[in-house]
Amino acid sequence: MSLTDTTQLSNGVHMPWVGLGVYKMDSGDEVVNAVRSALDLGYRHLDTASFYDNEEGVGQAIRESDLSREELFVTTKVWNDEQGYEETLEAFDRSLRKLGLVYLDLYLIHWPIEGSYKDTWKALEKLYKDGKVKAIGVSNFMTHHLDDLLQDAEVTPMVNQIEFHPELYQAELVDYCKQRSIQVEAWSPIGRGTYLDNSVLQELAEKYKKTPAQIILRWDLQHGIVTIPKSTHKVRQKENADVFDFELAAAEMDKINSLDKNNRLGPHPDEMGK
Ligand SMILES: NC(=O)c1ccc[n+]([C@@H]2O[C@H](COP(=O)([O-])OP(=O)(O)OC[C@H]3O[C@@H](n4cnc5c(N)ncnc54)[C@H](OP(=O)(O)O)[C@@H]3O)[C@@H](O)[C@H]2O)c1
Repeated sequence: MSLTDTTQLSNGVHMPWVGLGVYKMDSGDEVVNAVRSALDLGYRHLDTASFYDNEEGVGQAIRESDLSREELFVTTKVWNDEQGYEETLEAFDRSLRKLGLVYLDLYLIHWPIEGSYKDTWKALEKLYKDGKVKAIGVSNFMTHHLDDLLQDAEVTPMVNQIEFHPELYQAELVDYCKQRSIQVEAWSPIGRGTYLDNSVLQELAEKYKKTPAQIILRWDLQHGIVTIPKSTHKVRQKENADVFDFELAAAEMDKINSLDKNNRLGPHPDEMGK
C-alpha cells in the first residue's frame, strides 16, 4: 500500500486512503508551500473547505505542480451559512472558482445544520447528476442525521467525514456507515497532537519503531477509514505518509479502541449552528 492506494466509493470512484488536511493554514505561502511539499512527497488527496478560507492557495499549489487533474483527489465543503438549495449551488461555484478547477472529486456538507441540510443535500445531488462533482457526502453526521437524510435522499452519501481518533472512537456510527457503504473519513485523526504521549501509543510506537502519530494513522487504515492528517511541516507530512509497512495485531487494535473516552476536540454536531 502507498499514498496512491485508494478505496473504492459506493459509486466506483477511487479515493486515496491518506490525504492532507489544510485546516488553519493561511491561504498565502503557508498553504501553498504545505500542499506543494505534500504533492512532492506523493500525496494525491487534499482536504479543504470554504470555511478554511484557503481554497485559492490550494488551487495555486495544484496549478504550480506538474500533476494532471486526474491524478488528484480534491475535497471541499459547503459551510453552514452557505446551506440551502440555491445558496449551495452558488457556494459550489464560488469554491470551484477559488480552487481554479472545473470539477471537484468530493463535495461535503460540512455540518448537519437543522432545517437546512436536506435542501443542501438536494443541491449536492444536482451537482452530482450534472457531473460537476465525482462524489458527494456529508461531514459530522450522526446516525440520527443520516436516518433523517436517507428518508428522502435519492443518492446515499458516499462519504461521512467525522471526528475520529483513539479518544473518540465512534464505533456505532462507523458500523452504521459501513452497513450502508458510506466510507468513513477521520478528521483530527491524530487528535491535533494533544495526547501523543499516551502510554499505549508510546509502547506500540517503540515496538514497531514508529511514532505515536503513525500508530494512530495505521489504526485508521486497519479500521478501513480514510485519514487526512494536517501538517505544514514536510518532515511530519513524510512521517504521516510512512504508515504502509507494518501491521497492528488484533489485540493491539483493541487496546487502541479502548482508549476511547468520548473526548471531542471539536463541537458536538447537534450543537453546531445553534
Ligand atoms: N469536517 C470537519 O468538520 C473537520 C474539522 C476539523 C478538521 N477537518 C479536516 O481534518 C484535517 C485534520 O484535522 P486537524 O487539522 O484538526 O488535526 P490533526 O490532523 O489531528 O492534527 C494536526 C496537528 O497535529 C500536528 N501534527 C501533524 N503531524 C504530526 C506528527 N506526525 N506528530 C506530531 N504532531 C503532528 C500539526 O502541526 P504542524 O502543522 O505544525 O505540523 C497540527 O498541529 C483538517 O486539516 C481538515 O482538513 C475537518
